[in-house]
Amino acid sequence: ELPAAVRNLSIVGGNLTVLRAAAFAGGWREGGEGGGAARPLADLTLLVLTHDAIEALEEAAFAGLPALAPLDLSHNRLRSVAPGAFAGCAQLRTLRLNQGLEARDARGLGELLAGALANLSLVRLELAGNRLRELPPATALPPGLRHLDVRNNSLQALAAEQLDGLAALGRPRLHLAANP
Ligand SMILES: *[C@@H]1O[C@H](CO)[C@@H](O)[C@H](O)[C@H]1NC(C)=O
Ligand SMILES: *[C@@H]1O[C@H](CO)[C@@H](O)[C@H](O)[C@H]1NC(C)=O
Ligand SMILES: *[C@@H]1O[C@H](CO)[C@@H](O)[C@H](O)[C@H]1NC(C)=O
Ligand SMILES: *[C@@H]1O[C@H](CO)[C@@H](O)[C@H](O)[C@H]1NC(C)=O
Repeated sequence: ELPAAVRNLSIVGGNLTVLRAAAFAGGWREGGEGGGAARPLADLTLLVLTHDAIEALEEAAFAGLPALAPLDLSHNRLRSVAPGAFAGCAQLRTLRLNQGLEARDARGLGELLAGALANLSLVRLELAGNRLRELPPATALPPGLRHLDVRNNSLQALAAEQLDGLAALGRPRLHLAANP
C-alpha cells in the first residue's frame, strides 16, 4: 500500500520481528518469468527501520528495492541474517547496525553476518554500541569498504591478523572512539 514513487521510508518504533522476502515490495511471487518482488519500489533510496524489534532478516528481505542506498537497522535485536538478505540491493552503500546486534565476539559476528555482506558494495558499515569484544572477521566484510565504525564497543585489543585482514579489504578507515 506504499505509494509506488516513495523515496524515503522511515518506520520507527514498530514490532516488525521478522522481515520476509520482499517485505517492503509486496512480498515474493514464485515462478520464473515474473517471479520476484510483487510490487517493486524502484525509487526507494533511503530506508530507516530503527527501534523496530527486528530479530531476523530472511532471504531477499529487501528485494524489490533496487535503488536502496542507505539502510538503517540500528536499535534492533538482530540474531539471524540470511546469506542473501540483501540480495538485489546493488546500490546499497551504507548499512547502519548500531546497537542492533545480538553478537559480541568475532565468531558470533562472523556467524551472524556470514555471507550476507560479502557480495555488497558497501562503503560504510556502522557497528557502534554493540558491546563488541572483537572486530568482525574481515572475511565477513565486503571488499572495498571505506569506513568501519566500531565506536562505543568493548574492544580492548586489536589482533594483528584482524588488522591485516582489514588492510587486505582495501584499508578502510577504522573508527575506534569510546572503546576500552
Ligand atoms: C530523503 O532522505 C535524504 C537523505 O537523508 C534527504 O537528503 C532528503 O531530504 C529526504 N527527502 C525527504 C522528502 O524527506
Ligand atoms: C511483537 O510481535 C511478535 C511476533 O509477531 C509477538 O509475539 C509479540 O507479542 C509482539 N510484541 C508486541 C509488544 O506487540
Ligand atoms: C555472491 O555472488 C556469487 C557470485 O556472483 C554468487 O555465486 C553467490 O550466490 C552470491 N551469494 C549471495 C549470498 O548472494
Ligand atoms: C553506547 O552503547 C551502549 C550499548 O552498548 C548504549 O547503551 C549507549 O547508549 C551508547 N552510548 C552512546 C553515546 O551512543
